[in-house]
Amino acid sequence: MAFHMKTLFGCVSAISLICIVFYGMNNLPSTARCPTVERKITSTRNLKFDRADILSAGERKADQTEYRFVNISSQPENLPSLKSQKPPKHQKKQTCSPTNHVLFLKTHKTGSSTITNILNRYGDKKNLTFVLPRQKQLFTFLWPARFRVSYSAPLYNFGANILCNHARFNKRPMNYIFPKVHSRYITILRDPVSQYESVFNFMHFAKPLGFKDEEDPLGTFLKFPPPFQEIKPLMKTTLALNLVRNPMLFDLGLDFRYFQNVTAVKRYINFLDKEFDLVMILEHFDESLLLLKRLLCWELKDILYFKLNERQDKQKQKVIDKEVREDIKSWNKADFMLYQYFYRTFWKKVKAQGPSFQKELRVFKRRKEALSRACLQKGNFLDEAYTGVYVKGYSLKKNVPMRKRKLCENMMKNEISYVKYFREKINNQVKKIEEPDEYLDDPKNDWEVASDLEHDPILSGVGSADAAPVVPKPDSLQGGETKP
Ligand SMILES: *[C@@H]1O[C@H](CO)[C@@H](O)[C@H](O)[C@H]1NC(C)=O
Ligand SMILES: *[C@@H]1O[C@H](CO)[C@@H](O)[C@H](O)[C@H]1NC(C)=O
Ligand SMILES: *[C@@H]1O[C@H](CO)[C@@H](O)[C@H](O)[C@H]1NC(C)=O
Repeated sequence: MAFHMKTLFGCVSAISLICIVFYGMNNLPSTARCPTVERKITSTRNLKFDRADILSAGERKADQTEYRFVNISSQPENLPSLKSQKPPKHQKKQTCSPTNHVLFLKTHKTGSSTITNILNRYGDKKNLTFVLPRQKQLFTFLWPARFRVSYSAPLYNFGANILCNHARFNKRPMNYIFPKVHSRYITILRDPVSQYESVFNFMHFAKPLGFKDEEDPLGTFLKFPPPFQEIKPLMKTTLALNLVRNPMLFDLGLDFRYFQNVTAVKRYINFLDKEFDLVMILEHFDESLLLLKRLLCWELKDILYFKLNERQDKQKQKVIDKEVREDIKSWNKADFMLYQYFYRTFWKKVKAQGPSFQKELRVFKRRKEALSRACLQKGNFLDEAYTGVYVKGYSLKKNVPMRKRKLCENMMKNEISYVKYFREKINNQVKKIEEPDEYLDDPKNDWEVASDLEHDPILSGVGSADAAPVVPKPDSLQGGETKP
């Protein structure tokens, strides 16, 4: 019988701005020859407390310090040389070991859902621990608020391995959970013109901004943007509107107050360059993933993907008018500087990889296409993300062999399904290691089974009337206490 896979994509909820692909929650077959993740559980007592009670002093400190702006004027300016000091891990081909600590700062409308899927599958396969949003009904870390330690669900002494759902960058608490010494910080950017168009239209900004009835809402908005003080109250009701200007730098944590300050933006970009080990570029997605694979010392099969959460072609504004393009650039000058900077560092990194990179890239593309052919039916499939909104979907081939099927399915599984699945997974792990509270039902758990220390009561009046009490009463104390 035909196994038709229904996939739901896309969708913005006012709170979470997450895209939905709906599919079942299944585990990957653990075929990997990966080193077992070392972890010890020393206590599960945390279970009984509310999260707020169990934040350690260190966590509280990390949490209370919100990252606002970093004074990096004391840091050296020559960043390229600073970057090149990092050991080129990939070159020691056989000797490096896979990185299992990754913070992916998930930016909006940049192809980030596909990266999240890659990280979800990898972490699931290796039983890594995901940092998940604390609120069960949410799939973001209270975005657009800056990330805090208290926004994440308890980790029960499992060390944090991966964070890959929407969280706004905040250095201190993120460094607390993902110490820089053994973690990799990664993110992805996209050409600000297409990214902004995608944010504006996918998130339906025209309506809350009052440009819905214009023939060209985006173009008109950019010609007559309301002042910040008029947009600010709208942001409170439509959270997505926090992305109304420089959306990528917003996700990366820059305050609005610096959006028109070129000194601050340049400094912040330099700061980000130090914080992030890899900034990927959507327009060069496969190259990005290959850099990622080499940075993390993963295998090619770990980075295979299908594009997730893509808008239908007809919904994409195919040709953006030249004037609108220029206005997008002008409105988002800071994001444009960000993109230009990391576009250059990206290609420097690619060049530094040498000729083996292009060769591996060709192999990667072939394997990716082969997997697509094995998994997916040809043609366009639509799925309803939420009422009336359709996005690109996939349909699984009928005759996919069993051993491949799980992989194919997981590649189409969206981040919401994964968050739900990981919540269940960690709960099950915790249940397994928790002492079952059934000692009263255990027939062997009875003190009568031994008799060495049997109770031998002193029965008064049974031949012991003149025996002295075992413990004499402290007379003096008794008298002193009762009399005032
Ligand atoms: C920034 O750092 C420099 C060098 O350490 C220092 O001289 C300057 O006062 C700092 N600025 C602020 C605003 O803290
Ligand atoms: C992950 O956990 C499952 C279930 O406990 C186990 O069967 C599997 O071997 C584990 N995989 C790895 C790579 O540790
Ligand atoms: C721009 O940012 C820099 C760096 O934080 C700051 O020193 C300066 O006062 C800012 N300029 C304005 C006009 O706010």
